[in-house]
Amino acid sequence: MKHVLITGATSGIGEQLARDYARQGWQVTACGRNQDKLNTMARDHASLDALAFDATDSEQTHQALGNLSVFPDLIILNAGTCEYIDHGKVDVALFKRVFEINVFGVLHCIEALQARFTHSTHLAIVGSSASYMPLPRAEAYGGSKAAISYIANTLSVDLAQQGVTLSLISPGFVKTPLTDQNDFAMPMRITVEQASEAIQKGLAKGKTEIHFPRKFTFILKFLALLPMSWQRALARRMTRN
Ligand SMILES: NC(=O)c1ccc[n+]([C@@H]2O[C@H](COP(=O)([O-])OP(=O)(O)OC[C@H]3O[C@@H](n4cnc5c(N)ncnc54)[C@H](OP(=O)(O)O)[C@@H]3O)[C@@H](O)[C@H]2O)c1
Repeated sequence: MKHVLITGATSGIGEQLARDYARQGWQVTACGRNQDKLNTMARDHASLDALAFDATDSEQTHQALGNLSVFPDLIILNAGTCEYIDHGKVDVALFKRVFEINVFGVLHCIEALQARFTHSTHLAIVGSSASYMPLPRAEAYGGSKAAISYIANTLSVDLAQQGVTLSLISPGFVKTPLTDQNDFAMPMRITVEQASEAIQKGLAKGKTEIHFPRKFTFILKFLALLPMSWQRALARRMTRN
């Protein structure tokens, strides 16, 4: 039986992935802080085990992930958060909260797991298409996702020597509790079911870069090729709108 470990499995994209993989007969280790939600999910799916820890806490993460009885074939590091800054007003505490989980949370998990990586390990890291270009108020979120995308792409080079496959997942807008808080238009927003399907398909094919919905992410990728002065002008227009 194939085994997948998913962080951020108590909500949104991670929960959908955990339930979908369990329904397909995978052994699933679902991680998050919300013990009640994890218990419910474990009751719903016989092949799903719950592992509660706070990924921003290095010690808790090492304790939880350092002694897994069976090492997963697929590891999806998806736990994350999003906070927007107030129109150019830098709030360092907010930046730290966002980077703590989106960057250091991911790194704590990798540090705890890396000793057992083998040539058959498939590591997937959830970034965001928000990192492709400057977007209004996204300094902290986009910055954290740009950092984790760079780290993922560079780690993939270094881990290739051990035969580890590393996939970077960059979603556009997906309807989850995270985006339900947004007070702006979210073009081409998709459902968690669609996001989960796109991720599963990409991972099954061993794709190293998974981004969706493709129309939206290709537009962003194209805009990211424009001169930075044009990208900034576009972002300023979005702010006015
Ligand atoms: N939704 C989108 O449009 C979108 C777009 C691009 C990228 N993403 C990325 O996709 C990932 C999932 O997002 P989502 O929209 O599904 O968000 P979500 O519904 O808010 O779920 C976030 C998950 O992260 C977990 N988490 C947060 N802080 C944690 C911590 N300190 N320790 C352990 N787990 C923690 C939460 O679990 P607990 O509360 O139980 O800890 C929850 O399961 C994130 O990395 C996000 O940046 C989302």
